[in-house]
Amino acid sequence: MITSKSMQVTEHKPVIVLKLGGSVLSKLSSLFYKSIKDLQQHYHVILVHGGGPDITATLKKLGIESTFINGQRKTTKEVFSIAEQMLKGKVNSALVHQINLQGVSAIGLSGYDAGLLKAGFVDEESLGFVGRIDEVNLTLLHNLLSLHYLPVIAPLAVTNGGERVNVNADLAASAVAKALKAEKLVFVTDVPGILKDGELVSRVTKEAIHHYIESGIIYGGMIPKVQAALSVLNENIHEVMIVGCQDSIIQDGEMVGTRITEGKEVQVI
Ligand SMILES: Nc1ncnc2c1ncn2[C@@H]1O[C@H](COP(=O)(O)OP(=O)(O)OP(=O)(O)O)[C@@H](O)[C@H]1O
Ligand SMILES: [Mg+2]
Repeated sequence: MITSKSMQVTEHKPVIVLKLGGSVLSKLSSLFYKSIKDLQQHYHVILVHGGGPDITATLKKLGIESTFINGQRKTTKEVFSIAEQMLKGKVNSALVHQINLQGVSAIGLSGYDAGLLKAGFVDEESLGFVGRIDEVNLTLLHNLLSLHYLPVIAPLAVTNGGERVNVNADLAASAVAKALKAEKLVFVTDVPGILKDGELVSRVTKEAIHHYIESGIIYGGMIPKVQAALSVLNENIHEVMIVGCQDSIIQDGEMVGTRITEGKEVQVI
């Protein structure tokens, strides 16, 4: 369960959490960043980002082996050091800069800042320094939002024992969305949404997702993404979107991609 340090109320706007995949960061246009600014008219916006391609490329360059278990990167001390440098040093800074070019006050953070993200180990033996978030410092986020800053979060966290850990960015985004009681959670990735036989699945329920994972239709990096989506489907978040890299988050008034819902269909008689 995710606990939170504070429930301080900010200006009355719903919260939207956007997770930007490391896979799309080099492809996003200035129009996309402008659309983030536009979102701020109606929402408190929080960004969480990944950094997969930069981490993988650097590990490869250094000849360090990298493996994935169910879409999560096995993180030895050596791998962690690279992940931290890429996420916090390279990706977070570049993203904050791009957003600020649009006249937004984005502020870069990692889970270390003011104890923003506290985590436990997922499974130290098999995954190494990989955390699962169990506490979010909401006071910090509420204060930043009330001052009109846009927090941009690198998915790194601290354990109770004081270890620094890597967190899958999808799961970090869902933990933040849940703790903030966000209205929307959107994953922006390098595919247009969940694909089945090469076709976009525009709407999918919890039940179908379990079937897709079992049958191998959903694999690799899509697994933590749908797990993250399912973990937030409750009274606050009724649907989660997975969308592709496009010029605007909202196109003609709606988001285009895969809509994930709980699956309790209302029967119209
Ligand atoms: N059914 C599916 N439909 C679409 N993509 C899928 C599916 N199953 C697995 N994938 C894979 O999931 C990938 C997206 O997850 P990935 O972790 O690579 O990106 P990301 O989460 O956006 O980036 P990062 O992990 O760096 O934050 C796709 O590029 C694709 O290879
Ligand atoms: Mg991923």
